[in-house]
Amino acid sequence: CGIVAYVGSQQASRLLVEGLKRLEYRGYDSAGVAIGNEHGINLARSVGRVAVLEDNVEQTPNLHGTIGIAHTRWATHGEPSEANAHPHTGTTRDGHTIAVVHNGIIENYRTLRTYLEGKGHTFSSQTDTEVLAKLIAEVYDGNLEQAVQAALREVTGAYAIAVITSAEPHTLIGARKGSPLIVGVADRSYLVASDASAIVAHTTQVVALDDYQVVRLCAGPNDQKADTDEPWSVELRTTTIDNIPVSAQITELEMDLDQIELGPYPHYMLKEIMEQPETLRTCLRGRIDRRDGRVILGGLAQHTRLLARAQRIILTGQGTAFHAGLIGEYLLEDLAKIPARVQYASEFRYRNPIIEDGSIIIPISQSGETADTLSALREARDRGAFALGVVNTVGSTIARETDAGVYLHVGPEIGVASTKAFLGQVAVLTLISLYVGRRRFLAEADVARYLEALDQIPDHINTITQQSDRIRDVVEQVIDRDNWLFLGRGFNYPVALEGALKLKEISYIHAEGMPAAEMKHGPIALIDQGMPVVFVATRGSQYEKVISNIEEVRSRGGRILAVASEGDTNIARYADFVFEVPDVPEPLQPLVTVIPLQLLAYHAAVLRGHDVDKPRNLAKSVTVE
Ligand code: G6P
Repeated sequence: CGIVAYVGSQQASRLLVEGLKRLEYRGYDSAGVAIGNEHGINLARSVGRVAVLEDNVEQTPNLHGTIGIAHTRWATHGEPSEANAHPHTGTTRDGHTIAVVHNGIIENYRTLRTYLEGKGHTFSSQTDTEVLAKLIAEVYDGNLEQAVQAALREVTGAYAIAVITSAEPHTLIGARKGSPLIVGVADRSYLVASDASAIVAHTTQVVALDDYQVVRLCAGPNDQKADTDEPWSVELRTTTIDNIPVSAQITELEMDLDQIELGPYPHYMLKEIMEQPETLRTCLRGRIDRRDGRVILGGLAQHTRLLARAQRIILTGQGTAFHAGLIGEYLLEDLAKIPARVQYASEFRYRNPIIEDGSIIIPISQSGETADTLSALREARDRGAFALGVVNTVGSTIARETDAGVYLHVGPEIGVASTKAFLGQVAVLTLISLYVGRRRFLAEADVARYLEALDQIPDHINTITQQSDRIRDVVEQVIDRDNWLFLGRGFNYPVALEGALKLKEISYIHAEGMPAAEMKHGPIALIDQGMPVVFVATRGSQYEKVISNIEEVRSRGGRILAVASEGDTNIARYADFVFEVPDVPEPLQPLVTVIPLQLLAYHAAVLRGHDVDKPRNLAKSVTVE
């Protein structure tokens, strides 16, 4: 879900709809705005995309005003419907409206709802958010900031909220616990948003709220009788939910508008695939000292001994980040010789995990906000683990709650299907493995050799992305097939999993990824005439074995699409289609082999006519467990 809110001197509705468009990748089941003016608060809400809301806003009278809150929703409680769309409202005892937008989950909403129904409030939605709006209205006593603080003291669960009331037409309140919220400080105005991309067009000066913090933002004309020449006044105040003042620190956003504009590309996903040579370069910049064969990771410098003595490393994440973690597991064991295991954060968290002295947890997350990954991190730290974050979003919750970390620095990722962040995650895990490996058993010459190869990968990716049209032509020949397999061995086994995930999430084609050898133990029964089977079959220690697996599939009628090393003429005898990637050392192969699979999924989704950047039912960042 996404939140954006505004108080200032401009008309709010257009600005908020623009902000919602930039947040749409966070959820797009329904959307809504509430705008305040001297006569009260007016709402417009719609099911579906922000474009539908935009039409609705244009047709709704009275949506003028210089304060407002807006939301784009990914349904948790209650189906996507207009009644369940945010903002939700409550009415105070003296007849004023309270309007609220909310990300997260209020866990005790049933109890609160019963209590509020007893107080005479009638509910028009099934959402937990409406409970919050009515609770704030119930305790409102002439001061919105205090009412929000009081209401939040009664709530358990996670929230990021923005609240306005018709009683205080120049005051906007924000608050967070467990779900991100930032304040943008702009000219004569403030914005509040769950994500920097909704703010960056207006300002790069931001204040990030911490858990249990409330911000009160006022921007409005000065009273003519006031003792000042200034016609306009602004005020920002942060407190805890117990009304203890806290100082607000303004920081500069590491994001510019170009990074979140589509440019010449038809989709963000394609843009993000194609810009991977540059994003990988930025990720590696300053981290490779080729002359001395050294990895430079400032975030780890103080912890080198602890890392070199690690007894066990647990990598954790969800979705694509989990696949990067699986590659990390192979890398850490191969290059650093430390026992490593990746686990789904959602499973790790609840299995009573064993953490011993010398255990390190590596949470991997593009957004830095995924609820499952965050709770796994907290659980591991509570049990004494040292936490090393591999995160893209600077200042995100996971980044802030780790003991050390390495940022991806690949820029904001907008496409819901992760591509450049995956590449950044794998690159950073490679750097970490070399960094730690060098302090254990890895020879300087080996590190130097890997670093030299790593440095060339951005150029290699360029040669792969040039094959995009050919990949589309191949996909077109098999696009009618509804079941696919993705197979690989060793370092390329996680790449097979990622290839299958990419295909299913955006093209809705059923695909499974697995270790190539595992296919014989069951899934081989699925293979029929013409079934597309993608093999990641680059040269390496298991090449011959993969060729045998290809033959097993081929003899049963499967159509083979192989990702192979440049100049491998042998494989053409077994495969129907070959996508070539440059030769690189085996531990680095995922960084090149994943690229054709990203393009394959992209073209399949476009050929099937789907909205690539906003696949059905998905959200970019899942902040509920
Ligand atoms: C969501 C996204 C996936 C992503 C996963 C983890 O499910 O749709 O693409 O891989 O969350 O996200 P994170 O931000 O933690 O990397």
